[in-house]
Amino acid sequence: MGSNDLKMPRFRAKIVCLMPSENDNCQDSTENQLNRVYQDYNLNNSRECALSVQGRNEIRIFAQIFQSMAKFHSLKVAEIRKETADCVSVVFEVPDSLKPEYKYIQGQYLTLKMKVGGEEIRRSYSLSSSPVSETELRVAVKKVQNGKGSTYINDHLKQGDVIEVMTPMGNFYSQMNPSNSKHYVLFAGGSGITPMFSILKTVLAAEPKSRITLVYGNKDEESVIFREKLAMLEKEESARLRVVHVLENPKQPIADLQKGLLTPEKVMALFESVIGVNGDNEYFVCGPGPMMENVKQVLEKLKAPKDRIHIEYFSAVIDAVAAAEKANATPTGKFVSKVTIILDGQEKEFDLANDGPTILDTAVGADMDVPFACKGAVCCTCKGKVMEGKATMTMNYALSDEEVEEGYILTCQAHPATERLVVSYDEP
Ligand SMILES: Cc1cc2nc3c(=O)[nH]c(=O)nc-3n(C[C@H](O)[C@H](O)[C@H](O)COP(=O)(O)OP(=O)(O)OC[C@H]3O[C@@H](n4cnc5c(N)ncnc54)[C@H](O)[C@@H]3O)c2cc1C
Ligand code: FES
Repeated sequence: MGSNDLKMPRFRAKIVCLMPSENDNCQDSTENQLNRVYQDYNLNNSRECALSVQGRNEIRIFAQIFQSMAKFHSLKVAEIRKETADCVSVVFEVPDSLKPEYKYIQGQYLTLKMKVGGEEIRRSYSLSSSPVSETELRVAVKKVQNGKGSTYINDHLKQGDVIEVMTPMGNFYSQMNPSNSKHYVLFAGGSGITPMFSILKTVLAAEPKSRITLVYGNKDEESVIFREKLAMLEKEESARLRVVHVLENPKQPIADLQKGLLTPEKVMALFESVIGVNGDNEYFVCGPGPMMENVKQVLEKLKAPKDRIHIEYFSAVIDAVAAAEKANATPTGKFVSKVTIILDGQEKEFDLANDGPTILDTAVGADMDVPFACKGAVCCTCKGKVMEGKATMTMNYALSDEEVEEGYILTCQAHPATERLVVSYDEP
């Protein structure tokens, strides 16, 4: 079996090729092979499949797995539920025709486009539902003080409203496999529980031999999002799910270990007494910036393998490290680059100064319908791939080292670093 890539307008397609050579002695009928491809890749009839016969003895079956590029659709709000005093969860109604486009993986997020006070804004929200054990598409939104999007959603959005919702994105996940026997260690703070709730429900449903420890930091008992649901799940799955609440100002008596903030000392103490450092640990971290930095620091100290650590930023970390990174990324020596931007198979050329607007702003300014959300290096919606030349990024909290090595960039942060640069939004 081999694989290839095909560029098609508005789609990213992966081609899976069965029986690629004349030497393959395959007796299977093309229909059976096609059915196998459907099964293996979880395709349904609404996705396209192409059959191509090439050469006399060679049959190639191409299943084109169409993964729609980030695209907005108008979805109706099916339900709004108050989760805490300052958090609501929102369910979207997805018509059957759009269901394949809104298939998602645990830990992924949706980007919502809203008009707030006459201004169009985009905000990303992680899915809290599980793609394996639930059919609904639910996000949870915590109100941020003076926050435009989160206040609008908490105070004004109502059932029956129609809102622009981008198809799911993000890589805050690891592959599920029923034969896995892992210990998922989830560190969440505040609204950072949202992707974790999706992940933990999915692990419970999809990996019977894996277990989970969730460490969840909050101000007090009342601010714990999904509190009752977590308690219920922990009761039902007591052998596989452990929830450790850490509260800054608990109202009820609580063990000393669970009191206070998730400082490096506290995280280390939790490792020593509750979590344990094991080779089968896989870590997920999402919450306020300082908490995430503390957990990262401890994981580094414990020499946790990098490929076992998954981090999701909800907002840019404004700290000394980021400021230094920004300063380092400032280009020395000015020049103007010939930049080609590819979207949906269409190319546009620009003369772009290396200290001028970003690749994303350039594309948006030229009316290219490129995907973006946060514009702050955290969500990765604006991901593109450098096909020729080089680009530098001012900040990056969303792409992994491997992705950067493969040439992927956050176009909202990217500037040309060579006199010729080709960036494509069409690469999967
Ligand atoms: C990939 C991704 C997934 C996300 N998932 C969720 C989620 O599941 N639930 C959720 O509630 N939010 C989530 N967020 C954050 C969300 O997108 C918004 O940033 C948040 O709701 C604030 O937007 P706003 O318009 O209300 O505030 P803005 O008007 O953008 O900002 C107002 C003020 O709040 C500060 N601020 C911005 N974001 C945050 C934040 N997250 N926490 C604290 N202060 C902030 C800003 O610095 C600013 O001073 C996610 C973000 C990303 C990138
Ligand atoms: S738009 Fe979010 S990282 Fe670029």
